[in-house]
Amino acid sequence: MDRYAVVGHPIAHSKSPMIHEMFAKQTNQNLVYEKIEAPLNGFETCVTNFFSASNGKGLNVTVPFKERAWDLCAYRTERAELAGAVNTLFLDQNRKICGDNTDGVGLVSDLKQHGVDLHGKKILILGAGGAVRGVLQPILKEKPEKVFICNRTESKAAALVDIFSHLGKLESGPFSAFDEPSGGENPDQDCTSFDLIINGTSASLSGDLPPISSSVIMDRTVSYDMMYAEHETVFNRWARDAGAESTIDGLGMLVGQAAEAFSIWRGCSPETNEVMKKLRVL
Ligand code: ATR
Repeated sequence: MDRYAVVGHPIAHSKSPMIHEMFAKQTNQNLVYEKIEAPLNGFETCVTNFFSASNGKGLNVTVPFKERAWDLCAYRTERAELAGAVNTLFLDQNRKICGDNTDGVGLVSDLKQHGVDLHGKKILILGAGGAVRGVLQPILKEKPEKVFICNRTESKAAALVDIFSHLGKLESGPFSAFDEPSGGENPDQDCTSFDLIINGTSASLSGDLPPISSSVIMDRTVSYDMMYAEHETVFNRWARDAGAESTIDGLGMLVGQAAEAFSIWRGCSPETNEVMKKLRVL
């Protein structure tokens, strides 16, 4: 049987096997999908062994190996090249390892499922680490009006602007860029508020909020937290309290990136809504 797996460290918590098993059942594909915990000093060997062993067809890669997966590829897609990280590995006809990054497509397709079209929209992205870099190309491909990246370490946001600005209107600044001027409300809300705010910081992991003014939120703002949790994330709770129209967490992005990987490997696109519903009740 064709073998697939997700590799990470740690990996016990991964929902990928469950998601891919549901996709396989839905599309009548005969495959197995496992979890592999690679030792921190043995990721590359683990990948090579997987593909050289019988029927190793494809791997998903997760924290902390996505950049190392990028390094070991003989070929990469354009979006993976720009992302600087790879989450999907497969072999070409010559058995060379190829890499793609499906995280950004997963995010954009989840937003579309929620009725959010990025074309012509003003988007604020919080964070400038690997997670944000991984989604910028697919976001900019949708031709938003502008994307503003805020990060605690400003130089990292500026570096992303340098890498991606040929793809669209991209700016960066500190979180304080949107602080209200002392003495009242910001007079020109249109310049400082956004249709969509994406939290791509890892602040939520420790239950923290990125220090952004609620002035960035208007009544039509959609808040998207790349994290997901059983209950509403602290970031989405904050956005809702600040008046956001709707809030979405990152579970759909997880399922969306898996669906894109599945379609790369198997040549057929699974339906994601049904899988989302099942995961929510688990
Ligand atoms: P990931 O792969 O999840 O993107 P990362 O590359 O370590 O992880 O990036 C984490 C991001 O979250 C960074 O943008 C980080 O800001 P810095 O670049 O200034 O470190 C951001 N971050 C983490 N904790 C944060 C917090 N408490 N407040 C604001 N930003 C935070």
